[in-house]
Amino acid sequence: MVAGAGTAASSASAAPASPSSPDAATAPTPLDRVVPAPASVRPAAGSYAIHPDTPIRVSGSDGSARRVADYLATVLRPATGYRLPVTARAGGDGIRLRLTPKGAGAPKLGAEGYRLEVTGRAITVTARASAGLFHGVQTLRQLLPASIERTTRQTGPWRIAAGTITDEPRYAWRGAMLDVSRHFFGVDQVKRYIDQLALYKINRLHLHLSDDQGWRIAIDSWPRLAAHGGSTQVGGGPGGYYTKDDYREIVNYAASRELTVVPEIDMPGHTNAALASYAELNCDGVAPPLYTGTEVGFSSLCVPKDVTYDFVDDVIRELAALTPGPYLHIGGDEAHSTSHEDYVAFMDRVQPVVAKYGKTVVGWHQLTGAHPAKGAIAQYWGTDGREKEVADAAKAGTQLILSPANRAYLDMKYDANTPLGQNWAGYVEAKQSYDWDPGTYIKDAPASSVLGVEAPLWTETLETSAHIEYMAFPRLPGIAELGWSPASAHDWESYRVRVAAQGPRWDAMGITYYHSPQIPWPTS
Ligand code: ACM
Repeated sequence: MVAGAGTAASSASAAPASPSSPDAATAPTPLDRVVPAPASVRPAAGSYAIHPDTPIRVSGSDGSARRVADYLATVLRPATGYRLPVTARAGGDGIRLRLTPKGAGAPKLGAEGYRLEVTGRAITVTARASAGLFHGVQTLRQLLPASIERTTRQTGPWRIAAGTITDEPRYAWRGAMLDVSRHFFGVDQVKRYIDQLALYKINRLHLHLSDDQGWRIAIDSWPRLAAHGGSTQVGGGPGGYYTKDDYREIVNYAASRELTVVPEIDMPGHTNAALASYAELNCDGVAPPLYTGTEVGFSSLCVPKDVTYDFVDDVIRELAALTPGPYLHIGGDEAHSTSHEDYVAFMDRVQPVVAKYGKTVVGWHQLTGAHPAKGAIAQYWGTDGREKEVADAAKAGTQLILSPANRAYLDMKYDANTPLGQNWAGYVEAKQSYDWDPGTYIKDAPASSVLGVEAPLWTETLETSAHIEYMAFPRLPGIAELGWSPASAHDWESYRVRVAAQGPRWDAMGITYYHSPQIPWPTS
């Protein structure tokens, strides 16, 4: 049936003219008004209008193109009210999703790149793999009027400007981290955030699954971790944890949005929830009480005890078995209650366990003060890029993910009036968050050591999806742009206009965002 047929269009289709949507009711969005900025844009005359009989065509029998086509149809049907049938009949007009094999004649699009061509007859998205088609579809969404994101039928017209976008990412790692330990977020809340991350071509979801305040993943061989360690959170609420089926559901949903889940078990500090669950993990054999405050640095696994490594082996084995992605994050930050000697000894024993179960080590950048394993990835969360051991590790082959806290931490307050969040790394307004270069941020690190960027969201003060969204938007799209767009496209004045055009889209999606005074939001 036609979704919402017969219902009146709501106000969104009548958005007034404004700096970011000139004559929005008639002129299609310019092809370059996209976040992240595409690598290359060639406008042409004319436009394509999606109409009641537009089909979505997938070439060949490849199931992954079909999945993206089904996703696109699901995105477009509610507001258009059109059927948008997905068909394998390749010839003819409409919206066409094409996977092209690698090789002679194929466009050089990389594993995640795409080409979007719009003519008066058709919209064609071409890519080498489903990730590229998916990212191309996100671009296509942003080129339609914001009312396309509403869940009831709107009037359109659904026109897209003609021309060609050829696009691929600057960095392979474009991450977002969600702390589900300080406050627990359920599967549906995580899925909602995944859908929001996908809008901006984020491709890693880092889940901070354990900390002092809560253990959030079921481990069969140590059942009290979740049952007891997951039973509260900051402020003393009920907490919660993911069953293995819950976790698989998140992983699969993320994969359907082209995101890889990176699970983190933070060790040897940030472990009170585990220590409270099993007395034998403590050096004195006494389990501390559960913790619901927000101090850091007071807990440590008992590095000299053998049982610690039985625990670590079991947890990493079970988590690795549940995780199809190649990465496993072992934390390693703020181990203030672990001696430096013990810290180094612990990391020397734990990193090979990650490798034994087939995963690549990721750790917070304090890992570079120990002996990072060959192939390990360090996540930088400092604030000035001058830590010599990070640069030295990078020169020796450790790859870096850039999450400087005074730029990329989504939990920092925007200004003194922000009701949520923290300010230990300063206030982080939209421009401060956007206006830096991951390629040169770490002094003396080779540019080639930078694997990408990540925007962490710590949740000491955050309890709901609305809280997540208020902190993530508008900063998250800026970090996404740093990860995706070429350095040559980096330009605050351009970005602030492009991100302003996202505001009406967030309104249509029910995303409660921070109306940064630095961004010229359309007035409607
Ligand atoms: C961190 O913010 N402790 C990684």
